[in-house]
Amino acid sequence: MPITVRDLRNFKQRGERFAMLTAYDYPTARLLDEAGIPVLLVGDSVANNILGYETTLPVTMEEMLHHTRAVARGTKNALVVGDMPFMSYQTSLEEGIRNAGRFLKEGGAHAVKLEGGMYELTAALVDRGIPVMGHLGLTPQSVHAMGGYRVQGRTEEDANRLLDGALSLEKAGVFSLVLEGVPTEVGRRITEAVSMPTIGIGAGPHCDGQVLVVNDFLGLNTGTYPRFAKPYANLAEVITSAAKEFLADVAEGRFPNEAHSYH
Ligand code: KIV
Repeated sequence: MPITVRDLRNFKQRGERFAMLTAYDYPTARLLDEAGIPVLLVGDSVANNILGYETTLPVTMEEMLHHTRAVARGTKNALVVGDMPFMSYQTSLEEGIRNAGRFLKEGGAHAVKLEGGMYELTAALVDRGIPVMGHLGLTPQSVHAMGGYRVQGRTEEDANRLLDGALSLEKAGVFSLVLEGVPTEVGRRITEAVSMPTIGIGAGPHCDGQVLVVNDFLGLNTGTYPRFAKPYANLAEVITSAAKEFLADVAEGRFPNEAHSYH
């Protein structure tokens, strides 16, 4: 059965924790969907994880729509959330509404995600039938304003500001809220204070759901992983050793053999 925004609310009411993963392409989306992951986020982190950019800032609407369409085509049951890229929604309400609409009309997404305190835009989108996932705490599109990728809400004042932001987003109508890079205590306070489910990434174990970036989840990085990430596989090693085996097989005439040949 396809997952809807109502199901996420019901998960929270029933105290059922749920998982979300990012996905950027058709085969991965298909496998994750078939495995039962209920929410797939086409994150703007496609910028660093797939497209090789340093930050999420350069990724465009057209690139996001291209990846969202691929994920939507690979998905039968998961709720597909399109992440609105930097400057596709911060310039004006009108542009934000038009671009959010494109994720549903052209991308096949079921909802969009916005970073930061976009209260007015959130309410306007919800009014127009576009479900919105909020995102507070460490918001990577504000990397320069934050002075780097830093845990947010460490002081009482900052924690209170985040809580106020979460309550305002709740009022504006978000159906769920990503909390990224905040202390466990802040993750817990916000989760207990709001009616919509929170989805944590580096926000401790008390959030209603947890999200991982698929590259971290699959162990696709060659360097180190952030503290909050847990690789559940080591695909970097699998890919590297497969490539080396193929190189050797070709060089030594083991591939192709009779089984791979036509007569
Ligand atoms: O783009 C992304 O991957 C995200 C997650 C970290 C929530 O926004």
